[in-house]
Amino acid sequence: MKLKTYDLFPAFFSFIIDNKFRSLIENMERNVEIMGVKSGMKVLEAGCGSGFVTSSLSKAVGKEGFVISVDIQKKMIEKAKRKRGYLQNVDFRASSISDLSSIEDGRIDLAFLYYSFHEIGKKEEAVAELRRVLKQGGILSIKEPRFEVFGKDRESYKKFITAQGFEYAESPRNCDLLGCYLKFVKR
Ligand SMILES: C[S@@+](CC[C@H](N)C(=O)[O-])C[C@H]1O[C@@H](n2cnc3c(N)ncnc32)[C@H](O)[C@@H]1O
Repeated sequence: MKLKTYDLFPAFFSFIIDNKFRSLIENMERNVEIMGVKSGMKVLEAGCGSGFVTSSLSKAVGKEGFVISVDIQKKMIEKAKRKRGYLQNVDFRASSISDLSSIEDGRIDLAFLYYSFHEIGKKEEAVAELRRVLKQGGILSIKEPRFEVFGKDRESYKKFITAQGFEYAESPRNCDLLGCYLKFVKR
């Protein structure tokens, strides 16, 4: 199955997705909770951009947990480190989701993709890598922008991901104003 790849969100426009106004329209702490993040979890944030969502992830997992946040654009990771390098339980890494070789098998409780799945070029490799780093029963939690990724696209994502060893799980909420949630469990 061939899924469409969208252009990468450019690092020089990161101010559009990383600003105070976004905090007013998106309750990130609530979104992170809806996506299944809990205290003590080991989370992989795939496609972190400049780290706007990372702060809420860091708070949600707390001192007992940790977050590995990766982005394929080195410039995004440089910005994330500059703005949020103080987060003690977060490790920012420049890396593609399709090659997570620095993370050992079964290390991660929850893989978290916020507005990034549609941009991944090598989706098959990416899903295989996410599956590899997740522990058995681990969660793959995705949110996609609803005015860019439509219902039929989300149905294709479900088929594509379930064909690669994941089970679709209902999330507590399907969509909000800006995006829709997709949740899977590693079989
Ligand atoms: C629209 S931005 C969202 C960033 C962040 N999650 C947020 O909501 O603020 C999508 C990000 O995914 C990253 N991305 C796309 N494909 C990727 C890949 N294959 N591996 C790692 N990061 C990727 C892009 O570089 C971009 O920074």
